[in-house]
Amino acid sequence: MKSIPSDDIKLVPASQFSLDELTGIYNQTRVDYMVPMPMNAARLAEYISVYDVDLEHSLVATQNGVLRGVAMLGVRESRAWITRLGVIPATRRTGVGEALMEGLLEQAERLNIHFDMLEVIKNNTPAHSLFFKLGFYEVGELLVLRRSPVPPPDPVVADAQRLDRSESLTLVGRDRGTQPWTNQSESLFNAQEISGLHLTLADGSRGWLVYQRQKFTLTRFIYKTEVGDPEKVAYAFLSHLHLQYPRLDTQIENIQLNDPHLPAFYRMGYIESFRRIEMWRGTPPASLVSR
Ligand SMILES: CC(C)(COP(=O)(O)OP(=O)(O)OC[C@H]1O[C@@H](n2cnc3c(N)ncnc32)[C@H](O)[C@@H]1OP(=O)(O)O)[C@@H](O)C(=O)NCCC(=O)NCCS
Repeated sequence: MKSIPSDDIKLVPASQFSLDELTGIYNQTRVDYMVPMPMNAARLAEYISVYDVDLEHSLVATQNGVLRGVAMLGVRESRAWITRLGVIPATRRTGVGEALMEGLLEQAERLNIHFDMLEVIKNNTPAHSLFFKLGFYEVGELLVLRRSPVPPPDPVVADAQRLDRSESLTLVGRDRGTQPWTNQSESLFNAQEISGLHLTLADGSRGWLVYQRQKFTLTRFIYKTEVGDPEKVAYAFLSHLHLQYPRLDTQIENIQLNDPHLPAFYRMGYIESFRRIEMWRGTPPASLVSR
């Protein structure tokens, strides 16, 4: 039988801790994680800013002044996102994870938000069971892909226009509220070094790709086929992108499993790193779905 959490476990707003402390507790909760994702304070600061994490409404679990777990809440119009949840291994199965989750859901309710989103790595049974228990349901499966900087094939013949940040963000638009949180419009608007490519192929097919260029990595892809076959358009924009950045790695996350552009990514040398299950709680408000 599960032991009852001691009364001295407290949930405290994460804003009462420094970024170094939050990074420390987060890393301790992930020492045995399925996919290693260590953070440092600078990366956590960027994460908080890009994903609209609200530290006032995020929580740290403490016991006798010792940090036991953490859970963060992303907040955007009419929706909240559960992220960075973790309990240090020695404290697990004592109810801390559930207390943190219930605390976050309550924080969202206080903000008058009744629609919560999250992603969980496939086969992470403890977390998946916890989310089910609290009323989350599965909405789909997502892929995390990466590509090493191998030489790309010759670029597909096309009229290729480079897009600056503002042109790129105009194409992304603001209507991506039910997409996975990382790929919503706000994540791109909050991120640095965003640019894009618009391609028109000889047969009239056309489409665009918007991305973030980090120091060593291309990431945060948003793309659309405006006319024509998505696989063909994607292969064309990827061939131009990788020609432009031959030395950069690529990491993209939360691509829908049924995305018709996917075969082009595999043909271009992308491989699957891992999968996530997307889960929701509540119903997306009409303002998000109909936009
Ligand atoms: C997921 C995690 C936060 C759960 O925290 P916890 O404090 O151990 O969980 P609790 O003791 O509050 O358990 C609450 C519920 O979670 C589920 N659960 C927790 N551990 C489980 C396990 N090992 N197997 C199956 N279900 C489990 C159960 O539904 C449990 O309810 P029950 O006791 O009535 O069966 C913890 O395992 C963890 O930190 N894992 C590593 C980081 C991680 O996976 N984070 C989530 C990323 S999305």
